[in-house]
Amino acid sequence: MRILIINGPNLNVLGTREVDVYGTATYAELETYLHTEARKLDVALVVRQTNYEGAVLDLLHHAAAEGFDGVVLNAAAYSHYSYAIRDGVKAVALPVVNVHLTDPCDRSEPFRKTDVLKSVCVATIKGKGFAGYVDAMRLLMKDVKR
Ligand code: DQA
Repeated sequence: MRILIINGPNLNVLGTREVDVYGTATYAELETYLHTEARKLDVALVVRQTNYEGAVLDLLHHAAAEGFDGVVLNAAAYSHYSYAIRDGVKAVALPVVNVHLTDPCDRSEPFRKTDVLKSVCVATIKGKGFAGYVDAMRLLMKDVKR
């Protein structure tokens, strides 16, 4: 099974950004962890990160043609307001799992309570840190594996 993980804006600065919220583990550590866990699950994994909305769309649009069976998407702040990414998720014929490291609903800023991607994704996993991505991969395996 081939899975694409797309990480959105500001996730590249994990480890130094808001460490009280996200902790000190770096983005490089997240990538290493994801590849280690994917190997255990026998998943062929590609992990991409971008700070640009259109680049998220390009990755989504090409995922099926590139042979991926499913997508794990942490669209970061775009999750709260990007109808373009919402439409992009609907436009692809692949299951997409929405992941957040934190639980945005537990955070103080009201804008985080809205997640425009939730209803177009097959599931939303939040507040589980790095492990949430592994749960998402397992979910896709159940969903897709024949
Ligand atoms: C996030 C939560 C979002 O609210 C925030 O904008 C992010 C990261 C998370 O993984 O917890 O950048 O998606």
